[in-house]
Amino acid sequence: MATSAVTIRTLGLIGAGNMAEALLRGVLKAGLVTKQGVIASDISLERRTLFEKDLGVKATTDNRAVVTHGDVLVLCVKPQQVDEVLAGVAPVFEPQRHLLASICAGVPTARLEKPLPAGARVVRVMPNTPMLVGLGASCISGGKHATDRDLAAVEALFSSAGIVMRVPEPMIDAVTGLSGSGPAYLFYLVEAMVDAGVAEGFTKEQALKLAARTCLGAAKMLEETGLPPEELRKRVTSPNGTTQAAVERLDSDGVKAKIAAAVRRAAERSRELGRGS
Ligand SMILES: NC(=O)c1ccc[n+]([C@@H]2O[C@H](COP(=O)([O-])OP(=O)(O)OC[C@H]3O[C@@H](n4cnc5c(N)ncnc54)[C@H](OP(=O)(O)O)[C@@H]3O)[C@@H](O)[C@H]2O)c1
Repeated sequence: MATSAVTIRTLGLIGAGNMAEALLRGVLKAGLVTKQGVIASDISLERRTLFEKDLGVKATTDNRAVVTHGDVLVLCVKPQQVDEVLAGVAPVFEPQRHLLASICAGVPTARLEKPLPAGARVVRVMPNTPMLVGLGASCISGGKHATDRDLAAVEALFSSAGIVMRVPEPMIDAVTGLSGSGPAYLFYLVEAMVDAGVAEGFTKEQALKLAARTCLGAAKMLEETGLPPEELRKRVTSPNGTTQAAVERLDSDGVKAKIAAAVRRAAERSRELGRGS
């Protein structure tokens, strides 16, 4: 990741919701930009107050002021607000000066470029909710005019709140199916483990604590050992033991194929939403 050489003089956040807050906390902590270099806009007074009081950055209702102040802009509004917001800031957007990154799910770079002046440099980002705790997994794709330097700047920004991978834009729907919706798959697994734990006699709190810690510990083992999941699984599976009995049950019930089908369905749904259906 070519992130260390990147400096961002001024950052503008359009939309100061949960994801913008997570990103800003990461960026400030990493020292990528100073508080004085940041401005955020939001229609909600509560969000502006939080950004000003808790995060110490300037906040406004005026999206154009964000574009006037910021060189690197991140669009963090809901997807259905994108066209209106971009049309509003287009008159003050300068393609030579500004770089626009967008985290708006399902909005392609072509749709971001359309309302902006010709030559606008845009980068599409697909983050996920663990960004809220600094452990996001984001994928990025550049639009028609985005340069390698632009991608490096966006990579630096989002690396401050997790990991970043560059992918070709047609892959973004698959990203949505895997890491975008992925946290929900794990929450679903934890829900099932908790129910099973309760059926075995634990209280809900006990079962949740054990299941959540098990997920966290297993994920940490994957990252820290760098070993493939099959190998780590083999290491906890003694012949004829408890884990083997459980995994055989998962295999005979076709659980792997069902997870694959779920990821495929989410990616397909992302394509459908992108087409507006
Ligand atoms: N959460 C995720 O896991 C995730 C993952 C990938 C991508 N994303 C994308 O991230 C984006 C932001 O999500 P979020 O969860 O941070 O949403 P959010 O908390 O609702 O943030 C959006 C903020 O923008 C404000 N806003 C609405 N209209 C505006 C306007 N015209 N100008 C300026 N601000 C405006 C909203 O105010 P009001 O609430 O008052 O309307 C809200 O505070 C979405 O596009 C979503 O698709 C989210």
